[in-house]
Amino acid sequence: MAARIIDGKKIAGLTRTDIAARAAMLEAETGVKPGLAVIIVGNDPASQVYVRNKKRACEEAGMYSVVVEMPADTTQAELMKQIEQLKKDEKVHGILVQLPLPKHLDEETVIAAIPPEKDVDAFHPANTGKIMIGDYDFLPCTPAGVMKLLEYENIEISGKECVVVGRSNIVGKPQAMLLLHANGTVTVCHSKTKDLAQVTRRADILVVAIGRANFITGDMIKPGAVVIDVGMNRLEDKKLCGDVDFASCSQIAGAITPVPGGVGPMTITMLLENTLTAAKKAAGKKL
Ligand code: GUN
Repeated sequence: MAARIIDGKKIAGLTRTDIAARAAMLEAETGVKPGLAVIIVGNDPASQVYVRNKKRACEEAGMYSVVVEMPADTTQAELMKQIEQLKKDEKVHGILVQLPLPKHLDEETVIAAIPPEKDVDAFHPANTGKIMIGDYDFLPCTPAGVMKLLEYENIEISGKECVVVGRSNIVGKPQAMLLLHANGTVTVCHSKTKDLAQVTRRADILVVAIGRANFITGDMIKPGAVVIDVGMNRLEDKKLCGDVDFASCSQIAGAITPVPGGVGPMTITMLLENTLTAAKKAAGKKL
């Protein structure tokens, strides 16, 4: 039987409507309009699309948004100065530096320069540490979006075998932590994992974030599994595809996210949620 398709676009739309309502309420009650600043350095076309989408999503949710475009040869000092300015800007509650940065810039130093209370990506070590202990203000957007999809679909995590393929700081590691906090039994796989298929076939819930097009095939999953595809790969014919081979996996899985229209729309949605959280904190409101 073909798998149920998890409609990320629909779930993102419903969640954004709710966020917009809460943002309007905050503004009406306190005069604080949630605001997000996005810094983009250089002209990577994929990053430009992501940044444009973030700005549009903010505006649609009734939030203030500003995009700071900096040239590819921006120096570390210039970028730090820009962050310094946004730190002081009261209209800006969230600061996001679009990654990857040009090679001559040091990402770690840049991330550490963003004040934790404006770190809506949740990449700052203070925020990643909080995620580890399960006491957090901001959740990293993509893993939080995955959790929201599972919640919306009423997929039970407690006691389930959860397998995360990929161990990046942005997705794999925090994803494992969130599933663990939800009482899943979590395994993290990566490029050195021996017999990956043997591990992925154990999963009741499989989250794939390795950045390799159509990498997980139907023979690597358990019948009835929930398969969440975080991948976004551009094929030579410019088509977008995930890390999961949708054609074969959708015949075996119980539920599956498509690409596009699965996790992608949820990532920006959770960025809006984090911006609202930051604005509420700035307005001195209880969360
Ligand atoms: N580049 C790709 N994904 C992300 C993200 O979630 N945040 C930032 N800042 N850059 C990214």
